[in-house]
Amino acid sequence: MEKEQLFQHFKEVYDTTENLQSFFAPGRINLIGEHTDYNGGHVFPASISFGTYALARRREDSVFQFYSLNFPEQGIIECELGSLDYDPEDDWANYSKGMIKFLMDAGYSIDGGADILYYGDIPNGAGLSSSASIELVTGVLLESLYGLTLDRLELIQIGQRVENHYIGVNSGIMDQFAIGKGKKDHAILLDCNTLKYSYAPFKLRDYVVMIINTNKRRELAGSKYNERRSECERALKELQAELSVDSLGGISIEQFEQKKHLIKNETDRKRAKHAVYENQRTIKALEYLESGDIPGFGDLMNQSHLSLKNDYEVTGLELDTIVEAAWKQEGVLGARMTGAGFGGCAIALVPAQTIESFQANVNRIYKDKVGYDADFYPATISDGAREY
Ligand code: GLA
Repeated sequence: MEKEQLFQHFKEVYDTTENLQSFFAPGRINLIGEHTDYNGGHVFPASISFGTYALARRREDSVFQFYSLNFPEQGIIECELGSLDYDPEDDWANYSKGMIKFLMDAGYSIDGGADILYYGDIPNGAGLSSSASIELVTGVLLESLYGLTLDRLELIQIGQRVENHYIGVNSGIMDQFAIGKGKKDHAILLDCNTLKYSYAPFKLRDYVVMIINTNKRRELAGSKYNERRSECERALKELQAELSVDSLGGISIEQFEQKKHLIKNETDRKRAKHAVYENQRTIKALEYLESGDIPGFGDLMNQSHLSLKNDYEVTGLELDTIVEAAWKQEGVLGARMTGAGFGGCAIALVPAQTIESFQANVNRIYKDKVGYDADFYPATISDGAREY
C-alpha cells in the first residue's frame, strides 16, 4: 500500500498525522536449514518484499494505541505503560506489547505512549514470519520515537525473547535475525550457535524462487513445534554421554552415524538425524551458491524436503502435494517447504521463462487433490527492518 494511503488511514483512525513517522519490516523465506536454528545449526534465510508497515506518532501520556488495517473489526486496542502483561483479549497486539515490555525490562527508557497503525501484506498464516515482522517493526519504531540506541542484534534477541517468554513459542532466532538483518538481493548464512553470519549474493541466473502458499494456515503456537524441540533436546542429552558437544549443530554426519545408537527412542533418533544432516546440507548450500552450482543447490533443497517429511515429520498432505507437483515440472531444479512446516509455504527454483505454466500445472494438481487453490508469488529479496 502506498504511503499516502496509509497516512490517510492513520488520519481516519487517529484524527491527525502530525509528527507521523513510517516504518517497515519484511517477512522472510528460508532457502534451506530448517529446524536447525534452535539446534545450534546453520540457517540460510532471506527477507522478502512482503512485510508489515507501521505508522506511529509519539504521545506524551502513557497510553499506547494499536490499530491494524488487517483486523479493523477489532478497532483500537489500548494499553497503559504500566500494564503490559500478556492478555489474550489483545490478540495480535500482544506482539507489540511484548516488545515494549521487554525493551523496558532490558533497561531502555520508554517514558510515553504512541499511536500506531499497522498494515501487513504478508499472507496471513503463511509461515512467512508475520509475527517476527510485527515484533521488529515495533522495535524499530520504538527505537526512533524514543531515541533508543541499541545494537540491531540486541533488538533481534529481544524479539526472540518476546516469542519465547511472552507469546510462549520456543522458536529459534532465525526469523527475527533474517528480518532484522536482511539485505536486498542477499541471503544470510547464519551460524545459530555463534551468531556469526555472512551475506551471500542471491544470484540464480535464469531462475526465480517462487513462493507457493498452500493456503493451509499454520498456527505455530498450536503446532507440534515445541514438541519437536524437546525431542531434539532429549536426543542431544543421550548423545552427550559420549560426545562433548553443546548442540546437534556441533555434530558431524560421521559422529552421528557412529553414536546414534545412544538415542534410545526411534522417533528422537529420526529428529536428531534431520537436524544433523540438514545442518551439513545448509553449509554445503552456500558453497554451491557461491560457485554458481544452482542444480546442486536445488538438489539439496529436495533432500531437505524429504528429510522434513520422513524424519522430522512436519510437512503434511498440502506441503507434500505442492512440492511433489513442483518437482515434476519441466526445468524445476528444486522445491521444499519453508519455515516451520505444518502448512504454510513452499519454495521452488523455477526457470524464469516457465513461471506461467509452472503455476497453472502445480495449481491444477494441488486443487485436484486438496480441493482449493494455492497462491504463487515470485520472491523479491529486500532490506531488513527500517524507517522509510
Ligand atoms: C519457525 C521458527 C524459527 C525456525 C523455523 C524452522 O519459523 O520461528 O525459529 O525454527 O520455524 O526452521
